[in-house]
Amino acid sequence: MDFELTRVSLADAAKWAADALVLLVPDSPPPGKPDSPLATLIAQAHKSGALEPGAAKLLAAYQMDGVRAARVLLVRAGDGSPAAVRKAVGTAVASLKQPGVQKLALLLSLIEPSSDAVCAAVQACAEASYVYTHTKPSAKARALNKVAFGVSQPDEVRAGFVRGQALVVGVEVAKEWANRPANHATPSMLADAARQLGRKPGFKTEVLGPKEVKALGMGAFLAVAQGSAEPLRFIVLRYNGAAKTSAPVVLVGKGITFDTGGISIKPAPEMDEMKYDMGGAASVLGTFAALAELRPAINVVGLIPSCENMPDGLAVKPGDVVTSMSGQTIEILNTDAEGRLILCDALSYAARFKPRAVIDIATLTGACVIALGAVRSGLFSPADELAAALQQAGEAALDPCWRMPLDDEYAEGLKSNFADMGNIAGRAAGSITAAKFLQKFTADLNWAHLDIAGTAWKSGAAKGSTGRPVPLLLQYLMSEAASESVPATRKAPAKRISKS
Ligand code: BES
Ligand code: MN
Ligand code: ZN
Repeated sequence: MDFELTRVSLADAAKWAADALVLLVPDSPPPGKPDSPLATLIAQAHKSGALEPGAAKLLAAYQMDGVRAARVLLVRAGDGSPAAVRKAVGTAVASLKQPGVQKLALLLSLIEPSSDAVCAAVQACAEASYVYTHTKPSAKARALNKVAFGVSQPDEVRAGFVRGQALVVGVEVAKEWANRPANHATPSMLADAARQLGRKPGFKTEVLGPKEVKALGMGAFLAVAQGSAEPLRFIVLRYNGAAKTSAPVVLVGKGITFDTGGISIKPAPEMDEMKYDMGGAASVLGTFAALAELRPAINVVGLIPSCENMPDGLAVKPGDVVTSMSGQTIEILNTDAEGRLILCDALSYAARFKPRAVIDIATLTGACVIALGAVRSGLFSPADELAAALQQAGEAALDPCWRMPLDDEYAEGLKSNFADMGNIAGRAAGSITAAKFLQKFTADLNWAHLDIAGTAWKSGAAKGSTGRPVPLLLQYLMSEAASESVPATRKAPAKRISKS
């Protein structure tokens, strides 16, 4: 999809060549007597009540005299906030999802949008027109291929426009990989996608297989992978946008390409949705794709432990004890709590980069879906500064998260008579006990964990990946890059916290 940002007023909009013209209309009509067909349309729509109040209400017109675009759509932009603009543009574009609409003109100048609102508008166009086709050749591919945005001061909102386009690229990479079924998105295929990204200048990809992972001593990761005929992959992505001496941010994405539960097998209903159990990995790939567009001055490492979780004659059994890369032993009481087992070894590996922050992203627990639903991702971190930065990034990117507690009492249930810890605690506070398990592998890292089990995909009729939390992650990395580039005297040292 192609995007364009130009200076267009309401008067110019009548001459705009496009298959459809969408006008974002503020709550109060422009002052003065209407002096053009479009201004008259807006004034009358307001006066008659035909354009109902409320964000994203629509009113369509067709073949208006003096207007070049055949279809004209008015849409209420509510308070003009990024969230309201996202909703308005999304509703308008969804209603224009038809083969004849390939070029769209979107007039934003009436609402004088902020840079963030333009960013939201760009994302909403892509979101509302996305079509999954990889394994469905009968699906009508996205018809929309060009969107022009009209504003009164392009230079003032160009940053949001550019960020929005990078997010479209990143979110669509994440959606695409998460949507692909497990037989079309194996660990090796994810590794190939990462290798592709690694060809771009400033990027590098390294892929480890079972032999190397064994040599590293990643006994927990190996235990999950051993029940599957698909070989595991440990993917290491690097983006170098800053000096070699600048400590990187490490993103760790859970890459379970299918989670049957293993010997602790899951019930059949909705088990297909466990193809999304690599949503964390997909968000890391998507974030790297977005970084390639923006090339901020920061170093980022992406780690993706990837395998299937299958029941098999060779599969790990409840009660088996394995030794993690950290040396700590784990009694695997439930083979369905596999995400934490692959992540714990990746977190140990992360330490070698002497990172300024490590963020893991995982569809980790059903309990997080119960706690926070599909609105906010769960955020867990003992580091207040990092937690605040991620929380803020989520709000700014309209990809919100909510901080959950990590009191040490929550770790009580992880005690085991046969190993340093068990991999599950009781049913209570399941998303927190999972985070407490991970925390045992973060030593003195500046660490945060995002549980995206509720936010990475939608169930039901709209079943599909959301591409979250790529917007949150990119926002965080961009603000980290901005704080990196302040004069050296104000530069914060690599943040470390000590184990409590
Ligand atoms: N991938 C699941 C988590 C999940 C479940 C995400 C449902 C989205 C929807 C994870 O591997 C899992 O199975 N977790 C178990 C943990 C339990 C055995 C302690 C869960 O949440 O039930
Ligand atoms: Mn599981
Ligand atoms: Zn899982």
